Amino acid sequence: MVQASDETQPPIWEIRTSGIHNQGVFAACPIKKGESILQYLGERITHEEADRRGLEREAMLAGTDEGQVYLFTLDDEWVLDGNEEDNPARLINHSCEPNCEAIIYGEGEEAEIWLAAKRNLKAGDELSFDYGFDLESYEGHPCRCGSKSCVGFIVGEDYRSKLKKLLKKKRAAEGEEKASTKGKDKKDKKDKKGKGRDKVKSNDKKNDKAGKDRKKKRK
Ligand SMILES: C[S@@+](CC[C@H](N)C(=O)[O-])C[C@H]1O[C@@H](n2cnc3c(N)ncnc32)[C@H](O)[C@@H]1O
Ligand SMILES: [Zn+2]
Repeated sequence: MVQASDETQPPIWEIRTSGIHNQGVFAACPIKKGESILQYLGERITHEEADRRGLEREAMLAGTDEGQVYLFTLDDEWVLDGNEEDNPARLINHSCEPNCEAIIYGEGEEAEIWLAAKRNLKAGDELSFDYGFDLESYEGHPCRCGSKSCVGFIVGEDYRSKLKKLLKKKRAAEGEEKASTKGKDKKDKKDKKGKGRDKVKSNDKKNDKAGKDRKKKRK
């Protein structure tokens, strides 16, 4: 495996404030397509332990805008918990048009995750990859990647066409509901003429926290 930088060379990436979310990782120089950029480091834990930690941290950081969980699925048995200072790759944000991909080399105890460039990168490009989240609790993960094909939520490529259909249905249903409420309001106004000034209150509260979510990045 080719590591793009070693200890005698300055890193080819740098951490900076991101336009997507909080902090991100950026190319510090031009990087060629296919080049390995940095390894996703972390503690190797079981899925069961990952679920426990995920729920614990999610509860702890509820209501904040912090990146909450840094769990990366290695295989059916193991997950890497990358919530460590010496794992800068944990700061790489998701994009619906990512310029990097996560590649797993080796198996079992030997398995390693590396982020590699999917295309040629310029110095200053923010690194991104597809977190691969499934549709469970997608509403809890709005996406601000800003790419042309952004679906509005952080979900993996395999789930995006299904999500688009789901969102279309949802919007259509909301449109119908609004139209029927409007009709009802008109009728209510007519009925209540002369009875004082009733004010219409919106019941449109957003359900901002979806329940259980392991937030594992799947490859
Ligand atoms: C692994 S952290 C990435 C680093 C994060 N920017 C930080 O400073 O901690 C994952 C979190 O970053 C945020 N994030 C990553 N990609 C995002 C995107 N495309 N849109 C919105 N938020 C994103 C979400 O809060 C997510 O839970
Ligand atoms: Zn997006």
